[in-house]
Parts: sequence; C-alpha cells; structure tokens
Amino acid sequence: MKRIKVNLDKKISTSYDITIGSDIRDRIGLMIMKDYPAGRYVVITDSTVAGLHGRAFMDTMKAAGLTIDLIEFPAGEKSKNMETALCLIKKLFDLGVDRNSLLIALGGGVVGDITGFIASIYMRSVPYIQIPTTLLAQVDSSIGGKTAVDLPEGKNLLGTFYQPKAVFIDTKFLETLSDQEYKNGIAEIIKYGVIDSEDFFQAQESGIEALKNRETSHLLKLIEQSCRIKKGFVEIDEKDNGIRHILNFGHTIGHAMEAESNFTMPHGYAVALGMIAISRICEKLHNLSVNETRRIEKLIAAFDLPPLIPTEIPTDGIISRLHGDKKKKDGKVQFILIKNIGKPFWNGGVDRSTLVATLEGMRK
Ligand code: GLY
Repeated sequence: MKRIKVNLDKKISTSYDITIGSDIRDRIGLMIMKDYPAGRYVVITDSTVAGLHGRAFMDTMKAAGLTIDLIEFPAGEKSKNMETALCLIKKLFDLGVDRNSLLIALGGGVVGDITGFIASIYMRSVPYIQIPTTLLAQVDSSIGGKTAVDLPEGKNLLGTFYQPKAVFIDTKFLETLSDQEYKNGIAEIIKYGVIDSEDFFQAQESGIEALKNRETSHLLKLIEQSCRIKKGFVEIDEKDNGIRHILNFGHTIGHAMEAESNFTMPHGYAVALGMIAISRICEKLHNLSVNETRRIEKLIAAFDLPPLIPTEIPTDGIISRLHGDKKKKDGKVQFILIKNIGKPFWNGGVDRSTLVATLEGMRK
C-alpha cells in the first residue's frame, strides 16, 4: 500500500492522504474507523456501483465497526443535477445526518462530484471521503476537491472547491470496469505524461500490454504517478486560477467535441482527439518535433482510442464552440500547448485557419 500526502495551504483547506493499494477494502474500513472517527457514516453511490460492490463494501465497513448506511441514485451523467442532490439531501436528513457525520463517495466521477458538492453545502459542510471505483476517478476527479452538479445550460456549472478528508484507491474495483470506462482513465494517464514527465510517458510506452491487461503491479505504478502529478498542481493552485489549467491539456477541444456530439462521445475519446489536435498544432506553430507528435498519436492508438474525428461532428460546430469559449485573446483561442513531451506552456493563442486545417486533417 502506498500513501501520498496532498499538502494544502492551511488557511484554505487541510492536507489529506491518498492511499493506494490492491484489494485493500477490508483495511479501508479499519483506517476510516481509526483516522476519521464520526458519529455516523453514509455511503453515497449510484445504482451500478451499488449492484456491483455495494453489499460487499457495506459488509466490510460494518465488520470494521462503523455505523453506516448506503443511499443510491440512478447511474449516469443525467443524474448529476440539483434534483438528485436535493433528493439525496432529504435522505440524509431522514437518516439524521448532522455535522458529526461523514459522507463516503463510492463510485466514479459523477458520484464523487455530487457527494463532494452535497458535503460542501449540507449544514454548511460535513466531511467526506472519496473511494473512486473508475480509473478516471482514481487518477483525476477524486483528487483536488472540484465538486459540481450540471445545469441545463452546461456541465459542472454549479459547484464548489471542497477537499475530501481522504482518498482511498483500490485497483480491485477496476476489474469490473467496462473497456470504454477503462479507456477514459487511460486517456488521462497519457495526458499526465504529456504535460509533466517524459519519463512517465516512456514508462507508458513500454507498458502498453500490461496496462491493456489491467496488470495490478503496473496499474499501481501508473495510478500512483498520476496522483503525484495531479496533487503537485493542486498544491500550487488549489482554486484553479493559473497553473492547474495545465491539467486541461487536450480538454478544450475535447469538451467542444463532447458537447457537439450531445455528450454521446466518451470523455476519454474526446480528450484523446483533443491531445492529438493540440500536438499537431504544436508541431505547426511551436516546433514540436514530428517524432514527438507521432509518439503521442501512437500511444493513444495503442489503446484503440480513436485517431479520427467522426463525420457527425462537424468542424464548424467545434470551432464555434471554441470561439464561444471565454479563453480567447485577439480573436485567437487560448490552449495549453507543449514545447516537448513533458514541457507544457500556457497562452498559446491559435488562429482560426490553423484550427480548421488541423481538425480537417483528422478526418481521414
Ligand atoms: N480535472 C482537472 C482539474 O481537476 O483541475
């Protein structure tokens, strides 16, 4: 088992540990009991995770001596709204949850985001713990305290920064993950190599089969390194005012494509396409070598993440969403770019014609 500390400015939030291991569920209950004592615990999860892991998880928590209840909501992004939040809040009241209680988010990004959001507002805040069960949540959304629900006007428009008391990551949960969900996480792991570490990128290049086969020892290394990279950005810029934007590499174009597909395109696919587009732009405008662009494309392709933008997502639509984006300067859309693998920079304005040519170049 590995433990990473996220050190935050004490004036804003306290620091917390990310504990990573394989098949550590029995011990998570004991660790929570010992290190995060509370009068009552409530697990918030969705219908999918409840079916897969709910009962076994509750059994281990009860065996550790916790007074614990579980509440669930229907799985999926469409549940990530105020209606679900209010419904869960009502259930918390009915259970008698107070400020001496602790919430536990057991699930993927939607569960983590909505539980964190509720924890930040219920009775002016109650503590919560993240137990992410998807690869994407384990390497990204469970760390850093971004909480949110969606509004009809867009995703994540209502939210807070509210850090968990702890994050517990168990690779055992990944065994039941669909291929598509697993690839969503892989795209984020690739991103960490591209934005922060050539060595990490290289480790991924030499471990393609191990990652594809979900080999525990390899996964543990990749998850640990991803968490270390993410916590580094969060420690410097908890409220996402500057350097934390680097974590959005590939995401601006990715989000535009996701929205243009009416959110039918999986997040990992959109991020992968966004990273390819930005790498090609960096090759055109900022001397990123052809070799490095190809390495990024090759690593993405090795996991069957798509290299081409589907025809039903028109270039015009992507461009107008990008131009509607507030990150614009002198008519140019601003992106996180890279000089080399592992060397990102901000303020890279990209003109419309380069964007159009790049996106069109990803059609065949
Ligand atoms: N997923 C980007 C961030 O947490 O800032």
